[in-house]
Amino acid sequence: MASADRQAPPAWNAVGRHGVFPQASHDEVARFNFLTNLNIHLASQLLPGVRKAFDRRVEDGATPANRREVGELMRREPLYQLWSCLRRNTMEMRQQNSRAMVFRQLPELVTKANQLNEGSETLQLNPAVKVPRYISAVDIHCMPGGYHTEYCKDDIAAGANYDSGIFVTTAGMLGRYSDGGGQALVEWLREQAEAGYRPRRILDIGCTVGHNIVPLAQAFPETEILAIDVSAPMLRYANARAKSLGIKNITFRQENAEAIDAEDGSFDLIITCMFLHETSSRALPRILGETHRLLANGGKVVHIEQPQFTSDMPPYEQFMRDWDTRNNNEPFWGTLHDLDLFEAIERAGFARDNISTLGLYAVVDETLFPSAAKADTDNEDYGRKPAWHAYIASK
Ligand SMILES: C[S@@+](CC[C@H](N)C(=O)[O-])C[C@H]1O[C@@H](n2cnc3c(N)ncnc32)[C@H](O)[C@@H]1O
Repeated sequence: MASADRQAPPAWNAVGRHGVFPQASHDEVARFNFLTNLNIHLASQLLPGVRKAFDRRVEDGATPANRREVGELMRREPLYQLWSCLRRNTMEMRQQNSRAMVFRQLPELVTKANQLNEGSETLQLNPAVKVPRYISAVDIHCMPGGYHTEYCKDDIAAGANYDSGIFVTTAGMLGRYSDGGGQALVEWLREQAEAGYRPRRILDIGCTVGHNIVPLAQAFPETEILAIDVSAPMLRYANARAKSLGIKNITFRQENAEAIDAEDGSFDLIITCMFLHETSSRALPRILGETHRLLANGGKVVHIEQPQFTSDMPPYEQFMRDWDTRNNNEPFWGTLHDLDLFEAIERAGFARDNISTLGLYAVVDETLFPSAAKADTDNEDYGRKPAWHAYIASK
């Protein structure tokens, strides 16, 4: 049986509101709650059966040596087909519910964002920045129009859609402001401070709406933070959101992470949070190269991702974790997770001895939100639980 934690997510109404958060009607909230609970049902009730179906195949003599061979077996399993189909549907329905909610109030949301962004020096857009093909060629995780599409002047629709819907996919495990990763980084930085590492200038690459950089700005108001992204609707929303939350020390700037306009050694902490897997084989070395160039001596780079598909990860788990590549419009997901990231980071200029890994769990208000650290590990919802793997490189 799944634990009570996994079976009882908080109601969607527990999400943190701010000045540009969309207003949800009764029916929209009901749909978010239905989809969140459907995701939990799929993970806790269907997935154990999918596993049993796989084990039966192995007992009957199948010997899949890798995830491709597991896939050949599983694609014929009705329970796997049902789970996979419904999981895809929860993604699509989450996007449709958020989009419908955002579009019916878009003019009001744009006005609110404009009021917060007007004359703001912390929002720096640059229309000359080209959106890379790896994020424009597909609707990443079934988000129609992706991160970058603009539907009107001063648009923020993609940001509002992302912010309001992420709760469904993660079943509330990222906490009130979907910032459990950033809160985990704050805890880690507090530990680091005891050892004398106190970054002053921080860069967040691929910040989206700023979910995981805002906690750092709140915890360390004396730091100077640059948060970059290529997508203007995300940055407008991020800046307005941060302003309405009282943040003063983040500048949101439109930049391509492959060539960042900043001097060598400008930052003493650089983070990427669930970002690298949405780039490409060609972009990745450039981005890692930029992190090495921009990091000051004594600084650290932290990359937070889901665990790599290492040789000690069983083929069944690799196949299940690779679901997003095949079914969720995440074309680079499997390739990134197959990579030896130690080697990739070393090639960017870091000494191998200065690269380490760390397990990180989302830090949430446990009086309301389920804790990933305490969640039932028998019911892993492959790739969804906020139990991450951080690669830390020092210079
Ligand atoms: C999965 S989201 C990252 C989530 C975010 N880091 C957080 O903690 O909530 C990926 C983001 O990276 C941005 N992005 C993708 N490629 C980029 C690039 N080359 N340079 C800058 N931003 C990029 C996308 O626009 C998108 O907002």
